Amino acid sequence: MTAPLLSLRGVSKSFGGARALIDIDLDLHAGEVHALLGMNGAGKSTLVEIISASLTPDTGTLSVAGEPAGPLTPRRARQIGITTVHQRRSLVPSLSVAENLLLGRLPRRGPWVRWDEIRRSARAALDDIGVRIDVTAPVRTLPAAQQVLVEIAREVHAGGRVLILDEPTAALGGGDAAHVHELVRTLSQRGVGIVYVSHHLDEVLALADSITVLRDGRRVTTVPAEGTTVSDLVTSMTGGKADIGQRRPAVEPGPVVLDLVGIGTGDRLRELNLQVRAGEVVGVLGPAGDGQSQLFGLLSGTRRPRTGSILVDGRPVRPGSVRDALRHGIRCVTGDRLALGLIPELSVDENVTLATRALSGRPFVRWPALHAMAAEARDRYRVVSIAADPPVRALSGGNQQKVLLAKWLPTGGRVCLLEEPTNGVDVAAKAEIHELVEGLAADGTALLLTSSDVDEVLRLADRVVVIRGGAVVAERTVAQTSRDELVTMTAGGTAA
Ligand SMILES: Nc1ncnc2c1ncn2[C@@H]1O[C@H](COP(=O)(O)OP(=O)(O)OP(=O)(O)O)[C@@H](O)[C@H]1O
Ligand SMILES: [Mg+2]
Repeated sequence: MTAPLLSLRGVSKSFGGARALIDIDLDLHAGEVHALLGMNGAGKSTLVEIISASLTPDTGTLSVAGEPAGPLTPRRARQIGITTVHQRRSLVPSLSVAENLLLGRLPRRGPWVRWDEIRRSARAALDDIGVRIDVTAPVRTLPAAQQVLVEIAREVHAGGRVLILDEPTAALGGGDAAHVHELVRTLSQRGVGIVYVSHHLDEVLALADSITVLRDGRRVTTVPAEGTTVSDLVTSMTGGKADIGQRRPAVEPGPVVLDLVGIGTGDRLRELNLQVRAGEVVGVLGPAGDGQSQLFGLLSGTRRPRTGSILVDGRPVRPGSVRDALRHGIRCVTGDRLALGLIPELSVDENVTLATRALSGRPFVRWPALHAMAAEARDRYRVVSIAADPPVRALSGGNQQKVLLAKWLPTGGRVCLLEEPTNGVDVAAKAEIHELVEGLAADGTALLLTSSDVDEVLRLADRVVVIRGGAVVAERTVAQTSRDELVTMTAGGTAA
């Protein structure tokens, strides 16, 4: 057998005395898809950052094609063909697909950038790997799935032999994730070695050749995907402690709390009529970038509707007013935690208490009270970090998500919009978040849920509406529908 493309031996990493990775070995062969699994905070992203040289390990060695690579810099890692698509998107939103693909390597003649040449080679690069996207479109106009594809294409075009993908499909629905899977298969057939981090265990079993599981910074096992089951993986990840919940029992919902009457934005929502009752969870599905993505702005008051009105308990909410939306008890938990939901540079405690403090209207911060309140929230939401009160940016992705929920859920809203509430969280945390959502419903909150995870919608929602082309095209109680039907409707297929 030929030497592995990439080989790690005895890699360890601590942050300020706390151990994030302990003595990790990993081999990646050409053409192999090697999945990296583990609960939130297990050390996956840290390992990814060590391989891509954005972090330096405390101990351990890395060899490339059998040769010791020595200490790596990000530049040197790229030169030897190690490329990474991080958990956080890193494209420049205002630039075109073509510019993003060739950033840093724009072809020039003298002082002039060759735009025709840029477009031509970007198109060729995408064609080569079977991705069909308009290269002149600004990246911010692309749906999430296409942005991931562009990011992967950029790395491959930069000459990646080793490609590391950290949760590339975390916020994508089944149909969109399939495009990413297809690209991963294409690349592996061409001999690219792929490290694939994901919390979607079914996906991993379908896609990976081998699987390494991390737990609390240690490598628990490395197994071939063939012959392994989801429950085997869960046991290795948790050490046998996960409790994956059942569908919540149906409850009789109360009076209408949220009433959207003919809401339109003039572009992606035409005329939306939707009522949510006390204690009811309504799942909102639809193709990415369609009307369901407009709900956040409208409900939170950051966007003013062109037509229609929003009523809470029969009282109109002032359009386009964040303050009035909060006053009526509307709480919106964004799906984009780092850009919109949290302040990454502030500590966990400060972030957790941000909403409660803002709503209390008190001008001064009482630090002891703040830390006491935060301690309770961390405990309840099981926010795990190895440092005492680190800035949110130093938390693992799943723990950031828990901080976001801990910030909003205890604020006693009447109406709550949850966008992708379990984006990036592990199986155990997911079950906990589901219980929290059920608790809110049991307390009489009217809930709207958007999620690319159809099983999550089936588990939590009482009713599902599908928004397509800016209007509701289908509505079902959960008892009336099936997994297959929801997948089809979300992806934009025809509902039977
Ligand atoms: N820059 C940092 N400073 C301090 N601690 C850090 C830093 N980066 C990561 N950690 C800690 O290291 C541990 C491992 O984090 P890591 O991001 O690797 O987890 P993960 O397996 O990727 O989790 P997730 O599934 O939630 O993304 C966590 O406890 C995290 O808080
Ligand atoms: Mg991570």
